This record gives sequence, structure tokens and C-alpha cells, in this order.
Amino acid sequence: MSTNTNASDFSHRSVLLDETVGALRVKPDGVYVDLTLGGGGHSEAIVKQLTTGRLICLDADTTAIEASKIRLAPYLDKITFVHSFNDKIDSVLDDLGVGLIDGAVADLGVSSYQLDNASRGFSYMQDAPLDMRMDEASPLTAYDIVNGDSEEEIKRILYIYGEENYATRIAAAICKRRAEKPVETTAELCDIIKSAMPEKAKIGGHHPAKRSFQAIRIAVNGELDRLSVMLGKVIDRLKPGGIFAVISFHSLEDRIVKTAFADAARGCTCPPSFPVCVCGNKEKVKIITKKPVLPSEDELSVNPRSRSAKLRVCRKL
Ligand SMILES: C[S@@+](CC[C@H](N)C(=O)[O-])C[C@H]1O[C@@H](n2cnc3c(N)ncnc32)[C@H](O)[C@@H]1O
Repeated sequence: MSTNTNASDFSHRSVLLDETVGALRVKPDGVYVDLTLGGGGHSEAIVKQLTTGRLICLDADTTAIEASKIRLAPYLDKITFVHSFNDKIDSVLDDLGVGLIDGAVADLGVSSYQLDNASRGFSYMQDAPLDMRMDEASPLTAYDIVNGDSEEEIKRILYIYGEENYATRIAAAICKRRAEKPVETTAELCDIIKSAMPEKAKIGGHHPAKRSFQAIRIAVNGELDRLSVMLGKVIDRLKPGGIFAVISFHSLEDRIVKTAFADAARGCTCPPSFPVCVCGNKEKVKIITKKPVLPSEDELSVNPRSRSAKLRVCRKL
């Protein structure tokens, strides 16, 4: 499958940049983690504030790392780049000999570069082989799911990860088509999705394939499972007073972030009638954003892709 991994073409406009990095209250000698390096926008704003501090940047996509090395060239002595999915953050820190950290940022999902780079197969707007892997070395592609998973599993993926009302019809249409020949490209998948949806569902609103493509991308990259694991691990690695800022882009992600923060902010859950605590739960964080921070009108006008962004921040106790 062909891929175009030209780091010099990388472009991504950072979302909620000032709000996110401002919330971190970067200490010049602190240790920070960017869990989703992408184009390096959040990383740049953090590393600029470091003197003796250190920034550890993770991305599953090697193209993001190569592009950011160019953007962040003036600061390379303060940065460690790690090619890894971020749910491995504990072993990444262990391998680097880092114990606790002063702060972390996660800006979830895919970058504009990944979406715009047709050959990666993330976009329903451009024809490409069905791929959608953030890490091009991962074994599972969108092709495997579309052509290999059972109809029931495809329906589940579309319904749960895409919140797609026509999941049943779309899954059936995919399986019918692939019985004739494998579905090879994003354009073919798009046609199948559109043909399975009633006309009224295709008028106005989002592109008819948006939800299905989001769902398959989430499944290919294990995004929601990784997110839950990553959130818990990062909270455990924060120093007292350390800040964790997370930007999500759809309701499923936001619900996971909100729940993880709320669980970590909850202390003892024993009934009030219990004389002593038996659950052992301790408050780990204070939630800084009672409501998520949303992009300003100004940001929305220059970056429509920020439309669905939500920032949540917590501080370790
Ligand atoms: C929205 S972009 C980040 C943009 C970045 N904050 C900036 O300002 O340029 C998300 C990046 O995170 C990476 N990514 C998403 N989920 C990941 C995960 N679970 N582990 C590692 N990298 C991930 C993607 O490959 C992508 O490059």
C-alpha cells in the first residue's frame, strides 16, 4: 500500500493553544509530556518556556515526529521524541528514567496533515487505499476491518464509535459488496455508505460518510481503549500540583475524559453509614474546568476544525 510520508508537507493548526498551554502553568525547570505531538504546536509553546526543564513528545505516527523535529529544531536539546502509542506512557517514562512529571497535554484524534494526506486513507474526501493507521507499522488497517470483520462487528463499530444511526444498513451493504470483490479504496467505501443511507439522511449536515469513517479510524487505532488507559496512567504519574490538559473532538472521547477526571476527583465511595472507609478510594485530582473550555469565536473563524474541540483540565492533589 503506498504512503506519502513527506515531513516537509506537514501542516496542522493547533487548537485551543493558549488555553491549553496557559493551563499548564509551565515551570522553566519542569518535566512535561506532550502525548500527541502532531505538528508540534503545543510542544513548541511549552518548550519555549523551559530553561533546564525537559519535554517528552510521543506520537504513534513517525511522520509527525520527523516534521516536528524540523519545527522544534531550536529546542532539540530539551526534547525527547518517542515513537509510541501514548497508552504506553508508563513504560516510556520508565525507560527514560523519569519518575513523576509536572504536566501533560493530549490533543486527541488525527492531525490535519493525516486527514489531508490522501495516501493515509483517513479522508472520505480523497480517494486512497483503505488504511487509516496512525502508526504505519501497525498490523491492522481499515481494509482488514472492512473486508475481514463480521457484519455484526462492523455494525457494532459503526454504531458505537460512529454513533451512526444507519449502522445496520451500512454494515449489510459493505458485506454484500465485499462478497463480490474486496472493498479496496476510500472512494468505494464512501459509495457503499452513501448507497446504504436513505436520501433524507444525506441532505444537509455532515458528509454522509463522516461518522462511518470516524468509527473505522477509531477501531483501526484502538483510540478509545488507549485513551482510557492513557488517562489513568498519566494521572498516576503527575507530581502533586501537576496539571493534565486534554482536548477531545467528539462526544465519545469527551465522555471518557470527563469520567476519568471525575473518578480521579472522587474520594471515598463508601455509604455514609459505614464507620470506616472500606473502598480505599482517595481523591487524586481537583478538576479545574467545571465545564469544558471551548474555542473562541475568533478561533472558530480562522480554524473551522476546532469546532468540536473541548478542553478539560485537572490538577494532581
Ligand atoms: C490533533 S494531532 C496533535 C496536534 C498537535 N497538538 C499540534 O499542535 O500540532 C494528534 C496527533 O496525535 C497522534 N495520536 C493520536 N492518538 C494517539 C495515541 N493514542 N498515541 C500516540 N499518538 C497519538 C496522531 O498521530 C496525531 O499526530
